[in-house]
Amino acid sequence: IAVGFGFSAKEPVHYDAEQEGLDKKVIIRFSHVVAENTPKGLAVSRFAQLVREKTDGMVEIRVYPNATLFDDEKEFQALQTGKVEMIAPATSKLSSRYPAWMIMDLPYAFKNESEVKEAMDGRLGQLLFKAINDENIKGLALWDNGFKQMTANRPLIDPEDFKQMKFRIMASPILQAQFRALGAKAESYSFNDLYRQLQFKNVEGEENTLSNIYSKRLYQVQRHMTVSNHGYLGYIVLINKTTWDKLSPKQRAAIESAMAETTAWIRQYAKKMNDRALAEMKAKNLIHIHMQTNKEKEAWKKRLAPVYYQFKDTIGTQVLEEWKKLGA
Ligand code: LMR
Repeated sequence: IAVGFGFSAKEPVHYDAEQEGLDKKVIIRFSHVVAENTPKGLAVSRFAQLVREKTDGMVEIRVYPNATLFDDEKEFQALQTGKVEMIAPATSKLSSRYPAWMIMDLPYAFKNESEVKEAMDGRLGQLLFKAINDENIKGLALWDNGFKQMTANRPLIDPEDFKQMKFRIMASPILQAQFRALGAKAESYSFNDLYRQLQFKNVEGEENTLSNIYSKRLYQVQRHMTVSNHGYLGYIVLINKTTWDKLSPKQRAAIESAMAETTAWIRQYAKKMNDRALAEMKAKNLIHIHMQTNKEKEAWKKRLAPVYYQFKDTIGTQVLEEWKKLGA
């Protein structure tokens, strides 16, 4: 018997949410390698909360911090194969794949956070996002952490102090060349493995931001830190393109707006977190801290200058030209 809804009671009711203009609930797994109390850790949580609010819970960002799901070596492949939907690796870790991004790793390439902001909001940022040319990957934003410092078991004041030492680096040809220019050796290990590598003295030093050094307690396995701000560390936020394409226009707009808010927030907040980590390490006397002087900085810069020549063709003229215009 027909029941007045235009279909027989016996027919299964096929409810097509998309046809009805309603969104289906989507779960997006966001994997990252750092602690939750770091700029990236907090940005991911904040982003997740904003997306929840903006979509009334119809898009859920599930966060997996501390490399609980995938570590550095695995996360990009996991993103490509759809084992995870979002990641935010350090630019350094993608620089072999997208050489234009090597610009971000060049020693002393950016004076401060506002120069990075100027770069990313302008033509340079556009060029860099265009260079993310994998079909199934979409770049959404660059999130700041901040500037890197050097740590080791002996003071690192002059370029000569690096001689013969072995440093842990992120997998990046520029970082490899940076330590070579300083007369040191470098090997890449995942961030998750860093503490152990230092503890067992497989490597003698490393470079990282203050918030990473503090949150991973690297001061327990490193006696000295030079606040050199010699290199930038930020994150490219990536989403699997198939996932992105499946979202409704409304969901995409919500994600974009949450991303813009989070990016603006982390730009302010990352610096505060790094400053606070330095203050804590000083106050608690957790590590010997040397603040690099201008004179020492000039000596490091001079020693590191060949890295620029070595990579100029790989990075490309267009990117380098845009970078040269900064801070003008
Ligand atoms: C590192 O590997 O040292 C950093 O990239 C970790 C991170 O993601 O901040």
